[in-house]
Amino acid sequence: MSGYTETYQAWLDDPEAFWMNAAQDIDWMKAPDIAFNPDAGAYGRWFPDGVCNTCWNAVDRHVAAGHGERLALVHDSPVAGSKQSFTYAELQTEVGALAQVLLANGVVKGDRVIIYMPMVPEAIFAMLACARLGAIHSVVFGGFASAELATRIEDAKPKVIISASCGIEPNRVVAYKPLLDEAIEMSEDKPEKCIVLQRDALEADMISGRDLDYAETVGAARGAIPDCVPVKATDPAYILYTSGTTGQPKGVVRDTGGHMVAMKWSMEHHYGVKPGDVFWAASDVGWVVGHSYICYAPLLHGCATIVYEGKPVGTPDAGAFWRVIAEHKVVALFTAPTAFRAIRKEDPSGKLIDNYDLSHFRTLFLAGERSDPATIEWAQQKLKRPVIDHWWQTETGWPMSGNPVGLGVLPVKPGSPGVPMPGYKIDVLDDAGNPVPPGTLGNIVCKLPLPPSGTPTLWNAEERFFNAYLKDFPGYYTTSDAGIIDEEGYVFIMARTDDIINVAGHRLSTGAMEEVIAAHKDIAECAVIGAADALKGQMPIGFFVQNDGAGRDGAELEKELVALVREKIGAVAAFKTAMEVKRLPKTRSGKVLRGTMQKLADNQDFKMPAAIDDPAILDEISDVLVDHGYRKVQG
Ligand code: COA
Ligand code: AMP
Repeated sequence: MSGYTETYQAWLDDPEAFWMNAAQDIDWMKAPDIAFNPDAGAYGRWFPDGVCNTCWNAVDRHVAAGHGERLALVHDSPVAGSKQSFTYAELQTEVGALAQVLLANGVVKGDRVIIYMPMVPEAIFAMLACARLGAIHSVVFGGFASAELATRIEDAKPKVIISASCGIEPNRVVAYKPLLDEAIEMSEDKPEKCIVLQRDALEADMISGRDLDYAETVGAARGAIPDCVPVKATDPAYILYTSGTTGQPKGVVRDTGGHMVAMKWSMEHHYGVKPGDVFWAASDVGWVVGHSYICYAPLLHGCATIVYEGKPVGTPDAGAFWRVIAEHKVVALFTAPTAFRAIRKEDPSGKLIDNYDLSHFRTLFLAGERSDPATIEWAQQKLKRPVIDHWWQTETGWPMSGNPVGLGVLPVKPGSPGVPMPGYKIDVLDDAGNPVPPGTLGNIVCKLPLPPSGTPTLWNAEERFFNAYLKDFPGYYTTSDAGIIDEEGYVFIMARTDDIINVAGHRLSTGAMEEVIAAHKDIAECAVIGAADALKGQMPIGFFVQNDGAGRDGAELEKELVALVREKIGAVAAFKTAMEVKRLPKTRSGKVLRGTMQKLADNQDFKMPAAIDDPAILDEISDVLVDHGYRKVQG
């Protein structure tokens, strides 16, 4: 473990010197003299006196260094049937022009801009244009419906929204503009302007006086490159909303300086890539993986990044990833295990791999959900390259545990997302806050402070931040993941300790789905759980009890609830199954036994909860599950 062990020890010995050293890889407008102020914020702040600009570091810096002709971004869209490349100089032109449009529409430092876009290069330009002006962007995933978008508009209060006429899914064109209009209608807070990218697949209706055509306005501004605005290292770079335990998402705040330092460090040391390499994160700009490893980290590091608008299968086949890797000479791919499960299902022998020249490809990285050993082993066998599982969260922005390829790959243990990265002292505690022996399941926590890039707070929700992350185990950040650390220091993530589920690598709140179902006029009560799914890891399933006297047909109501969740949360919720039950299993104090229902659905052994009010209810639930096709496979 030499490279890793020494580096981790160097961090342990002097964390401030470690990160001050890493900070030298960033161009500062005023370099920080202070690494960390323990008295600021909820647990301290990194680089409190540093001044910088992210767009300068991600774009202009490379052009100024003479790398303007280097490839910066490739858009590859099998669903739109188009491909486009941008050098760093071209990226600067595009970002500059859009920043000029934002500026002309009154966007200044500290203003919020919502970006609701599919996987098009303009989404990256939009993020960088905001960064250029010191504006705070908040990207909303395109698979969310208007009510979710409205919640984010209300919370972030954007001056401008940048969107597109549509996204393209393999089975349909998703009209974004009506969703945007509806969300603005629902929200009490309204943006002053919307900049809308018209795509060939669907033209959007524009609202006069409010909506601006992206191509027209940016075209007119092309040539203008406004200066990069100096911001404090502790100023927010962006807000990214992520699922919490209620329908109100958490606005995770990312600071500017610490974010850049961590991104740059991770590219070299964790992902083992060099400036000029082509790096591909097959995710979406709406998720943290897209923020960190489609947009910011590759560009900060001077790599080329791939913006892929397609799927691992069906666009057109299970060889899609190999085609992109071969065509663009990708050295490292980062995706969710579910993508590999989908590929393996369609091409179990991996024969499509042989059709492509993968000679540039060095490493596969998987994260976003638990990697089952079978998937890791299949990928190892077929690709004959290191397959690196690593673990992190929206809140941290970069790996908490992993396998630092840049420091020399450590032995891979399938099922474990590696060892703690420098910056993270990971412990496992029991519910009373006591450390547990190696190999024992418990709450996974990180000793405070979080390293650079760790969220300092939640947008507009300081108290919620404290309650969600810092209160339960004083001195630690609570990850809400449960797992173990083995004798050799490898981390294993087993489950969430809250009601978050992970569906195809997407983090979803069952609480939010329950809120939607409970709001239906005929519903008395409900529970949503995540049931094991061979492709997506988990799928949500809902149980509901109808109101006395509602007299509704159960099957009809089931369909209505499925449609309602899709309408209110979005297709991404993947909520396809609702089941009527007569009662929900509860403890005598009235707590719904969701964990027991999940074990039932997955056909796992469980201990009858001592406090269960009426054990017979479980037999009823079991019958309903069987009727809906569950409890067939041993979980
Ligand atoms: N805009 C609009 N709708 C979207 C969307 C977007 N950006 N992204 C997904 N959706 C829709 C899908 O079309 C699907 O709709 P449907 O119910 O009409 O079929 C629904 O949301 C659920 O999407 P998903 O769970 O992704 O399922 P899928 O069947 O479309 O694809 C996989 C399954 C495994 C191929 C896909 O999830 C995948 O590639 N995942 C791995 C990579 C990844 O993105 N990870 C996320 C974070 S790292
Ligand atoms: P998100 O904030 O959307 O990135 O989701 C973070 C959550 O996804 C984590 O808290 C884990 O529950 C889960 N997760 C992410 N990566 C892994 C991994 N490699 N192994 C197991 N779970 C993971």
